[in-house]
Amino acid sequence: MKNQAILHEITAPLLYWYQGAARDLPWRRSPTPYHVWISEIMLQQTRVEAVKGYYARFLDAFPTVEALAAADDDALNKVWQGLGYYSRARNLKKAAIRLVEDFGGDLPADHGALLSLPGIGAYTAGAIASIAFGLPTPAVDGNVLRVVTRLCADDADIMKQTTKDDVTAALADIYPRTPDEAAMMTQALMELGATVCVPNGAPHCDECPLSSLCRAHAEGTEMNYPNKPPKKGRTQVEKTVFLLRCGDRYAIRKRPDEGLLAGLWEFPSVDKHLAAEEVVGYLQTLGLIATEVSQLPDAKHIFTHIEWHMRGYEVRVKEELPSYVWADVGEIQEIYSIPSAFKAFLALLDTSEREESV
Ligand code: ADE
Repeated sequence: MKNQAILHEITAPLLYWYQGAARDLPWRRSPTPYHVWISEIMLQQTRVEAVKGYYARFLDAFPTVEALAAADDDALNKVWQGLGYYSRARNLKKAAIRLVEDFGGDLPADHGALLSLPGIGAYTAGAIASIAFGLPTPAVDGNVLRVVTRLCADDADIMKQTTKDDVTAALADIYPRTPDEAAMMTQALMELGATVCVPNGAPHCDECPLSSLCRAHAEGTEMNYPNKPPKKGRTQVEKTVFLLRCGDRYAIRKRPDEGLLAGLWEFPSVDKHLAAEEVVGYLQTLGLIATEVSQLPDAKHIFTHIEWHMRGYEVRVKEELPSYVWADVGEIQEIYSIPSAFKAFLALLDTSEREESV
């Protein structure tokens, strides 16, 4: 990569800075390899502040690899509810089963063996191997790519695998060889990217321990890096979501085992917008007799590659149709994981019976 020699100077000032600047985060308080693994998976595409509460609740529910391997799927989804990217939770359980079967219930202190586990890619394997085991393996995520391409004023496209490989190799060359420092180096690079060399808006170069080494800072071109081509637009999906209600119970169904929000529970829906006068006829084709229909406020949910534009109706129906699960509000809140995409509708469930009975 361009100007790679700059990286040879960064270790000492970066580690010194980290020791004074590190945030006190739950997974940094004498973590076990299991703790490092869980925190790194949760922190993928998710902000530190959002992860803190989930991390504590997850470890309460599944304190060991063995407990995770034996987790009930609905209980696991429930602990993950709201964190998004649910395939991460499924892969955690799959990997835990492999750890119990093939590794005696321990995470292996080996980059290649970590990479062979479900849900662990190059970044996570590097993070666990260095933070938990002190191996000199860089963990290159978006934060680290930004820090390094700015330091070196390297305009390589960071979405390309070759760029990630080049940055990983350049860092591997300069990683400290003592375990404590290797662990600290991974966290220090992430910390600098998260708090100083920030992703949105101008970096805080006046607080940066590396500013005197930084080529982009010398040129005043910090904002030109990282070079990341604009994203393609998201697919727009129109949906009509039904809160089908019979007495105090609502219809829910399980999503397919593959694809978006796989295996999670949802309110019934159809992938088009239905006008109010079309609702009764549509539901009749499913075998549902509607006795009362009221339109709910529209809602929208944005996934990485898809946007749902949702119209909603609450519909009183005459009888429970056996093709759905019919659950009361308490069961929906405590047992079934309905993802945040439906948050606006979850908030509209009638909780009056429940509150009176508490
Ligand atoms: N982002 C990814 N991993 C992290 C960690 N260990 N600490 C803080 N932010 C992170």
